Amino acid sequence: MLAELKRIREQDKRYEGGKILCSMCTKPHPIAEKAYRMFLSSNLGDPGLFSGSAKLEKEVINQLATLLHGQSCVGHIVSGGTEANLMALLVSRNIAQVRQPEVVLPESAHFSFTKICNLLNLKPVYAGLDNSFRVDSSSVEKCVSKNTVAIVGTAGTAELGAVDPIEELSRIALEHNVWLHVDAAFGGLVIPFLTDAKYKFDFTLEAVKSMTVDPHKMGMAAIPTGGIIFRDSKALSFIKTETPYLTDQYQYTFVGTRTGAAAASAWAVFITLGMDGFKKVVGNCMKTTRLFAEGLSAAGFKLVVEPTLNIVAFRNSNGTKGLADKLRGKGWFVSYVPRYDCIRIVVMPHVKRQHALAFLKDLVECNKK
Ligand SMILES: Cc1ncc(COP(=O)(O)O)c(C=O)c1O
Repeated sequence: MLAELKRIREQDKRYEGGKILCSMCTKPHPIAEKAYRMFLSSNLGDPGLFSGSAKLEKEVINQLATLLHGQSCVGHIVSGGTEANLMALLVSRNIAQVRQPEVVLPESAHFSFTKICNLLNLKPVYAGLDNSFRVDSSSVEKCVSKNTVAIVGTAGTAELGAVDPIEELSRIALEHNVWLHVDAAFGGLVIPFLTDAKYKFDFTLEAVKSMTVDPHKMGMAAIPTGGIIFRDSKALSFIKTETPYLTDQYQYTFVGTRTGAAAASAWAVFITLGMDGFKKVVGNCMKTTRLFAEGLSAAGFKLVVEPTLNIVAFRNSNGTKGLADKLRGKGWFVSYVPRYDCIRIVVMPHVKRQHALAFLKDLVECNKK
């Protein structure tokens, strides 16, 4: 049976080969794997039984909140960015109590918001983007109405890594007294460690009421480990569900039984790497990103936008989709993004210099054929 499992597992692609260039996940840090195994049977859905795990979860939330300049924040380790965004919009909807609730989303918002709007019966109102693919704040302003329960900004869009002008969104949200949620699922563990760019995107901005930040992306925690953080503990009272038979009276997450192993894995990586370690990881990813960008430009490809985070997107003049298919033929997994007619590469920690060089070589060859 174990041999059979091994055989099946071998059908999965592995991050180690450096050919997965389309994923925002990566191989968990070795310490995350160790920590995860220690907490396999722990259930954060029943924290009275697993008080040690619950304490770890609180510590991870504090670590993330501190990084994002939050004071007295609360939150949970959830199944990923989708659930984190869901919990944020659920709070905002429940607080606002309007009959026909709307949420203002950038056109570049993650597709999880489509699911969430469906589930929560929220009408999405889309704001346009500027030339750098950041949400256009004047468009956001026009989208706000008396039915708006939340504005969403993204710090690190999934497709291009763009960072929305959260400072401007904060001003608009304050003016209209609307909840501002920042989806930093990806960027939350990149932006704080950039050395040559500064973005105001977190709880330093008064209107930011909730943030998504996923340790299973650039935090190298086990998959799945997502994070939702609220500025204020009052938020939780709007999403609490009574639990008739568990050790705690309430749950505050969509998922009921939740693994404590996720929290343990994120905690272990935080302690092991520390701020300097994360800076190094992000620094290396950014260096490799520049290598990709320079190599692509030198080979005559057009960058969709100068990379701000560790994501590069490019196109060619004679069929970008076909080129993505040819790359797949050589074992490279890149994303083709129809919306921008581009190929997108996410330079995660498993993507090293040698992979970038090998990719560029294969790319030039594929483009000739
Ligand atoms: C910006 C952003 N938000 C939300 C998500 C959804 O996260 P998950 O797939 O962990 O649910 C992603 C995933 O890539 C993302 O990039």
